Amino acid sequence: MAAEQSSEQSSDRSSAPGVRIRGLSVVYRTGAGELPAVSGIDLDLPPGTITGVVGESGSGKSTLALSLLNAVQPPGRIAAGSVEIDGLGDVAALHGDGLRRARGRHIGYVFQAAQNSLNPLKTVGGQLLDLGRSHGMGRSHGPDDLRGLVREARGLLDRMGLDGARVLDSYQHELSGGMRQRVGIMLALVLNARVVVLDEPTTALDMITQATILRIIREVHEERGLTTLVITHDLGVVAEVADNLAVMYGGRLVEQGPTGEVLGDPRHPYTRGLLAAIPRLAGDIGEARALPGRPPTLDSVPADGCVFRERCALRMEVCETGRVPVVSWGSRTAVCHAVQGAREDVKQTVTAGTVTAGTAIADMGEEQA
Ligand SMILES: Nc1ncnc2c1ncn2[C@@H]1O[C@H](COP(=O)(O)OP(=O)(O)O)[C@@H](O)[C@H]1O
Ligand code: SF4
Ligand SMILES: [Mg+2]
Repeated sequence: MAAEQSSEQSSDRSSAPGVRIRGLSVVYRTGAGELPAVSGIDLDLPPGTITGVVGESGSGKSTLALSLLNAVQPPGRIAAGSVEIDGLGDVAALHGDGLRRARGRHIGYVFQAAQNSLNPLKTVGGQLLDLGRSHGMGRSHGPDDLRGLVREARGLLDRMGLDGARVLDSYQHELSGGMRQRVGIMLALVLNARVVVLDEPTTALDMITQATILRIIREVHEERGLTTLVITHDLGVVAEVADNLAVMYGGRLVEQGPTGEVLGDPRHPYTRGLLAAIPRLAGDIGEARALPGRPPTLDSVPADGCVFRERCALRMEVCETGRVPVVSWGSRTAVCHAVQGAREDVKQTVTAGTVTAGTAIADMGEEQA
């Protein structure tokens, strides 16, 4: 598959770490036993790139994000697979102090509920110092270390259009949802981690602020030589920032490849449904066709056959049981029986340029279901 070609590490474009996820499965314990929320995911995050993961609500995106930090909490657990990060090893096998040090320092992150996860009893600055101390700052290197951390934090906040000094002096309740979201992004970047995981980083922001934040994420990513994963239900967000795109459905990756190629020539019926559901800026709003039906829940994801078949117009008998083939061409893959023949009549005329930030897909299908 793609991205495996650089085993000679000498002349990297950057020294960003690569991430290789292999056979990753995560289950949650429910009344009906342990059920998979993420199943057999293989995904490479090539060094120095931004990968976007997109899919409707419930498709397993946040669970995948948590797995990158080995932070899936009970009743969930990583049931199989590995998350290899250059310089760090298999994160899925880390625990205790090793794992604690990796989070924040090696892997920066904003969880989906970042707006609500600040400590209400401490100022943002107080929490920043706690974060620094928990990574050994202010002990071996003296207080200058912490001063540098505060300077860095203020700089990042200023850059995101906030008054950094004031935000650091504020309590959670004094900040709007959008401000808290930017605080979350600052906390993900401030320790200079080289792998950064952002789960729905801009959902609480208006369109203009969202565009600014996405631009800053991209700039910081390039300046620091990061390897970044952006998780979102908004195709416009990935169209704007991601080099590569992975589409998730029912806990599985159904299509992946370079963002422009996937958006310009989507092959999996789910990806095509997502794109067809977006009102085009240039077109008639009535042209958007909501994908019928709803995504599966943990207890309704089919254990066998294609996970998407309940909603697929191309469903065939062969889709009902067994493994669906992974079809690869160039740097792309799709998991679908209908893609195998790569028929021309399943092609769509969507171009990446017609997708803009704010084209959320969370409510897709609701109108027609
Ligand atoms: N703590 C939990 N306990 C049980 N089921 C969960 C838990 N967290 C998530 N799930 C289920 O796992 C599936 C994937 O959820 P999630 O990873 O949050 O998806 P997404 O981020 O794509 O919306 C959903 O069906 C969700 O209901
Ligand atoms: S495998 Fe079959 S049911 Fe699944 S997306 Fe492809 S054609 Fe549709
Ligand atoms: Mg989520």
